[in-house]
Amino acid sequence: TEKIVLDCDPGHDDAIALLLAHGDPRIELLAVTTVVGNQTLDKVTRNALSVATLAGITGVPFAAGADRPLVREVAVAADIHGESGLDGPELPAPAFAAVDTHAVDLIVETVLAHEPGTVTLVPTGGLTNIALAARRAPEIVDRVKRVVLMGGGVAVGNRTPVAEFNIAIDPEAAAIVFEAGWEVVMVGLDLTHQALAGPEVRRAIRAVGTGPARFVDELLDFFAATYRDVQGFDAPPVHDPCAVAHVIDPTIVRAFPMPIVVETAGRHTTGMTVADRRGPAPAGCRTHAALELDHARFWELVVDALRAIGDP
Ligand code: BDR
Ligand code: CA
Repeated sequence: TEKIVLDCDPGHDDAIALLLAHGDPRIELLAVTTVVGNQTLDKVTRNALSVATLAGITGVPFAAGADRPLVREVAVAADIHGESGLDGPELPAPAFAAVDTHAVDLIVETVLAHEPGTVTLVPTGGLTNIALAARRAPEIVDRVKRVVLMGGGVAVGNRTPVAEFNIAIDPEAAAIVFEAGWEVVMVGLDLTHQALAGPEVRRAIRAVGTGPARFVDELLDFFAATYRDVQGFDAPPVHDPCAVAHVIDPTIVRAFPMPIVVETAGRHTTGMTVADRRGPAPAGCRTHAALELDHARFWELVVDALRAIGDP
């Protein structure tokens, strides 16, 4: 199994990423940490706890992290995720609380508590917590197996023409994470815009027939509507579980090595992930971009995870 720490800002697709990580037998979820992003830290933390409650996730520590980016002002995505950050379904009150530890400390402790090269960090929000962890305890950089993040894109943006939301909200943090020296897999918009939840996917999810599957169906109703109205998509791209899917099976989400840096000072391009696709990647290149999705097998993973979760 793959040990992961999920650092998220739920968020409709973050919630589905959490369900996939919990339901898939190949993932061992060591900790869940939250970061400001789609909504304020308080809201996304409560959402994470509510999702854990409805999915029966127990024995995993949840910790709240940064409530603002390193340098910039808070900028949430209420247009896509609503006022709560998880608008649409009715959420159960959390059955448990976050631990007292700060997310950054929990990330560091978790990495140090396991054998070197065994813990994968999976950020699906802004990179504030991950950057802070790399600064607070630089020794984790060599110890982490990989950072498999949802964010960025080789040739596409959503927050701006060239910048993706998770990178755009904290580009300084993203620059730290991409340049730290650990292995980074960027699961960006080139990949996640292929992970569309079309009618067939929706039917397969509904057919699972459990409470958590109904919850995902209701999440996707809301997400589909905002993605249609705000971004002009016929079906919503379900970004964040793609990062978890890469950890589960890299043949479902295929990544290719290429140098990638983050623009922090552009006049029109701040938050852009600048990927160098000229020729083959240099030897020892530690950054990768996910480009190819096996759509059918990806959604099979999600549906199988929902089936495994059942009705807790
Ligand atoms: C990313 O931004 C957030 O709104 C989603 O949860 C996802 O992580 C997509 O750009
Ligand atoms: Ca997210």
